[in-house]
Amino acid sequence: MKILVINGPNLNMLGIREPGHYGTETFEALCNRIAQKGVDTGNYITQYQSNHEGDLVDKIQEAYFTGVEGIVINPGAYTHTSIALRDAVSAVRIPTVEVHISDVNSREDFRKVSYIRDVCVKTISGHGTDGYMEAIDFLLEGYKK
Ligand code: DQA
Repeated sequence: MKILVINGPNLNMLGIREPGHYGTETFEALCNRIAQKGVDTGNYITQYQSNHEGDLVDKIQEAYFTGVEGIVINPGAYTHTSIALRDAVSAVRIPTVEVHISDVNSREDFRKVSYIRDVCVKTISGHGTDGYMEAIDFLLEGYKK
């Protein structure tokens, strides 16, 4: 299966930013772990991170034209603001799992709003960086059915 993992703004700062919310694993270590999961499960996993909303939209559109079969996305703060990202996910109709490292529902009220949630097949929130692995497993399981 061809899976694309997308990380939005500030997620490249993992390991540095607010460890109380996001843990101590560095972004590089997380990317390595995701890449290793691709190797271990025999699936083709690519990864992309950007701090720029339009670049994230471009990447989701590109996924459609390159045969990506599943997307895992942590849109970071754009979760709570971006209709453009939501529309991109809706447009490509690729099964997409929304991931948040922290439990967004137990934080500030503005984090409880997700514009992308209802165009995703699942949301995983508050499971730390393991949430990415769960999201990948969910997509792989879905495709076995
Ligand atoms: C986040 C939660 C968002 O509210 C925040 O803006 C992030 C990270 C998370 O992974 O918990 O950048 O998506």
